[in-house]
Amino acid sequence: MISLSTAQGAPVASPFNPEQQRRFDEGLEKAFAKYPSEYRRAALLAALHLAQDELGWLSEPTMAYVAFRLDLPSVRVWEVATFCSMYRKRPVGRHQIGVCNSVSCWAMGSEKVLARCADMLGIRPGETTQDGQFTLEEVACLAACGYAPAILVNNFTYVENVNQESLERLIRDLRAQPGKEMAPGPLPVDPYAGQTGSTEGH
Ligand code: FES
Repeated sequence: MISLSTAQGAPVASPFNPEQQRRFDEGLEKAFAKYPSEYRRAALLAALHLAQDELGWLSEPTMAYVAFRLDLPSVRVWEVATFCSMYRKRPVGRHQIGVCNSVSCWAMGSEKVLARCADMLGIRPGETTQDGQFTLEEVACLAACGYAPAILVNNFTYVENVNQESLERLIRDLRAQPGKEMAPGPLPVDPYAGQTGSTEGH
């Protein structure tokens, strides 16, 4: 395992296969192009999104690799990744279902949607099914409030005005699709473990 204390600038092995590497590199170049060369580190959030899109979540070696590419201390990447709840620090299933729990969706019955989803998948929010096929999450406002209740599937697909019928159809359709292979463990190590207070935010 590559430690988050890896010296800044030390080469770190890529977590990507060649196809993932190509997409990551292309995306990173586009992100770098948005900033002056002396501020390339500002592309950190974009780089983490790119890595997560490829691997499903951010393991410790992945964070160390992103740090290497942006010439940042690994622990700085860890701090950012754990501050933003949109970055996943645990392995996920091949299909991720995020049920919005913010006010408009809540008023339109998102609690029932979440409960029904949990029932159908046999897991609680935050868990992954034993076969690695589904992860169920509660997520904050998806900016689809006018079409509440809303669900985000696999980071990019919106399902709006969700009702029991459309939810059952969604799960049935996803069960029939193999989904994208996600990176396995190991989990990141918390460099602040044992200290008081939490670095996890949103
Ligand atoms: S409250 Fe659910 S999308 Fe905004």
